[in-house]
Amino acid sequence: MADNEIHRIAINTGGGDAPGLNAVIRAAVITALGEGWECVGIRDGYNGLLEPDQYPDGGLIELDRTSVRGITHLGGTILGTTNRGNPLAYPVEVADGSWSEVDRSDELIQTFADRGIDALIAIGGDGSLAIANALAEKGLKVVGVPKTIDNDLEETAVTFGFDSAVTFATECIDRLHTTAEAHDRLMVVEVMGRYAGWIALHAGLAGSADAILIPEIPYDLTKVAEAIGRREAAGRHFSIVVVAEGANPAGSSVPIIKDKVGQAERLGGVGHQIAASLAAMTGKETRTVVLGHLLRGGSPTTRDRILSLRFGAAAVRAIKEGCTGCMVSLDPPDVRYVPLALATRRMKTVPVDSDTVRTVRDLGVSLGD
Ligand code: F6P
Repeated sequence: MADNEIHRIAINTGGGDAPGLNAVIRAAVITALGEGWECVGIRDGYNGLLEPDQYPDGGLIELDRTSVRGITHLGGTILGTTNRGNPLAYPVEVADGSWSEVDRSDELIQTFADRGIDALIAIGGDGSLAIANALAEKGLKVVGVPKTIDNDLEETAVTFGFDSAVTFATECIDRLHTTAEAHDRLMVVEVMGRYAGWIALHAGLAGSADAILIPEIPYDLTKVAEAIGRREAAGRHFSIVVVAEGANPAGSSVPIIKDKVGQAERLGGVGHQIAASLAAMTGKETRTVVLGHLLRGGSPTTRDRILSLRFGAAAVRAIKEGCTGCMVSLDPPDVRYVPLALATRRMKTVPVDSDTVRTVRDLGVSLGD
């Protein structure tokens, strides 16, 4: 078989889900079938290959036109996903009931060969794509597809899932305006985004928030309280404060929820903390809304569907062109291939001198600094 001869590819989805995953799967499968290739889906990241006995279908599902019919608009992923089960640090329970991590990557690569799989399309965020890069460095043919609502992946103009999360968050903030104004209340809205402020910044700006707190700009709540005070003085007796879950006060860190071995640390809780402090500082009746996983669920927007479909088809083209260890990337107006190593070297955070941040300042919205 010539080095780049492909007969069978696999697709998996890893990490937090995002609207658009199924559209990527559909486009990749139909494009691959068009090449005369077989397609299989791996259940739950790599678990379908590492723990096949856990699955009635053996952990791998044949993907054909029927299995991807009518899924473009569906949220979630037909393959399942997990943010546990990193093959390079796989959690295993030891005799004394404690957990440790073992490297099962060589075993995994052998399993790909044993199952006759020539290449993998790994759809995931920074964690999953770093795993994909490590597998590529060990010789597996892998093409990555950038997925995350957080938009914190480098080397692509945007990730799919982001537009859907921001669009829904903006709709929620619009709704909160009416109830906040009706009750002269201060509303604090916490949104996901991990250590980047893309969702808070874009939804806060589009939703006409009065203050936006992001991890990239450590906040000083006295500045936010002053902004609320100026609104009160101007006769505006309600305010909306949008907070990224990773936002942190100047000189201190963000609250973290400690979790199990092999599981990513979890953020959350900063919204309630800020609401309590601002209520004390301003005397305003205050309520907190945590949008949480509402931003991960639901149907992808048109923009995310088109980006996901383009990424899925491009991933198959990349494999056909012999590109491996790369990620499809949006470089408007084109989709290009970039090295996975480059895309996963660091997190993409909000540039504090960006035009969007300057616009927020120009509109008199507080950034807590
Ligand atoms: O990376 C996507 C994301 O939704 C983050 O915004 C959030 O911090 C994290 O995943 C939540 O993870 P989980 O679904 O495991 O709680």
